[in-house]
Amino acid sequence: MRILGIETSCDETSVALVENGRTILKERTHSQVMVHKEFDGVVPEIASRQHLVYILSVLEEVISPGQMTEVDAIAVTQGPGLIGSLLVGLGVAKALAYSFQKPLVPVNHIEAHLYAPHLFADIAFPYVGLVASGGHTLLFLVRGFHDYEVLGSTIDDAVGEAFDKLAKVLHLGYPGGPIIDKLAQQGDPDAFLEFGKRPQLLPDTERDRYNFSYSGLKTAFTYRIQHLDNVESKLPNICAAFQREAIDLLLRKSWNALEDHGISRFVISGGVSANSYLRKQVQAWQKKGIETFMAPLEYCGDNAAMVAGRAYHDALKGKYGDLRTDAYSRLGF
Ligand code: KG4
Ligand code: ZN
Repeated sequence: MRILGIETSCDETSVALVENGRTILKERTHSQVMVHKEFDGVVPEIASRQHLVYILSVLEEVISPGQMTEVDAIAVTQGPGLIGSLLVGLGVAKALAYSFQKPLVPVNHIEAHLYAPHLFADIAFPYVGLVASGGHTLLFLVRGFHDYEVLGSTIDDAVGEAFDKLAKVLHLGYPGGPIIDKLAQQGDPDAFLEFGKRPQLLPDTERDRYNFSYSGLKTAFTYRIQHLDNVESKLPNICAAFQREAIDLLLRKSWNALEDHGISRFVISGGVSANSYLRKQVQAWQKKGIETFMAPLEYCGDNAAMVAGRAYHDALKGKYGDLRTDAYSRLGF
């Protein structure tokens, strides 16, 4: 089954053709990052207008009208995401479904992220899955593509959001995650400790055993930075210290979930799963007998292949949309 996937939930306009949820036949992504950089973050109205401007040329690069006979279904991100951006993708997907008489498969963006590592490996169930992105920090117990539960989530900011906010405070640019990651590689996380103790991030109480919290970390670092002079020379150490705290919390809560549920398989996804420190630490878990899975770097962030891939399993389940399907900025599971 060949599915044409469309992703426009945030600031990437992406279209992909994927076979049987596994083989990426073609994919094109137009990133708006250069446009939003100027504002230190994604500006929703600009994002939706950019999708409108680029989506048909991105689509054309992936498939011509004559090749639509080879497509079995049209998949599109339905939410969560920026509503104006989602509506552009959904509008195009519906127009394609209608004019070429193809079924429409609406896809949940979080489920699509969680699916990304499945594009590249056979991953058995059950596993503990972590989706860490700019908008979400969620820990799942996954028993099957349509059988999973949310174990925990952030009680305030998402982890990627915290990276982006710290980068803003430090005037490093947008998106903050990759910039902090790069600077941190030249830094010493302990060097920053002279300015205070390691903050105690969300302890493992019964209620918060699988939950995350990032607003306190951001505030603690912002406060410390305000009392520092010569910040420029300390950037690598600041980034290394912040990154270690942010990522160690992801690791600690994920480990709790693996241990409590007696599971030895761990899957990470979402933009933050591109973080080099996170990937290194997770890979090291293999020595402890944990099978670990992560997508290649270019599939950690938003892309249409994960949408088309996830849609294959939704289609097998008969989870189709229709011409009345709507988009939602908030969408549960
Ligand atoms: O999944 P994604 O592309 O979009 C959302 O659905 O949010 O994630 C984007 C987020 C941004 O906050 C970005 O700073 C973060 O992922 N990110 C990283 C890294 N690369 C991207 N965070 C930490 N380290 C990275 N290497
Ligand atoms: Zn995303």
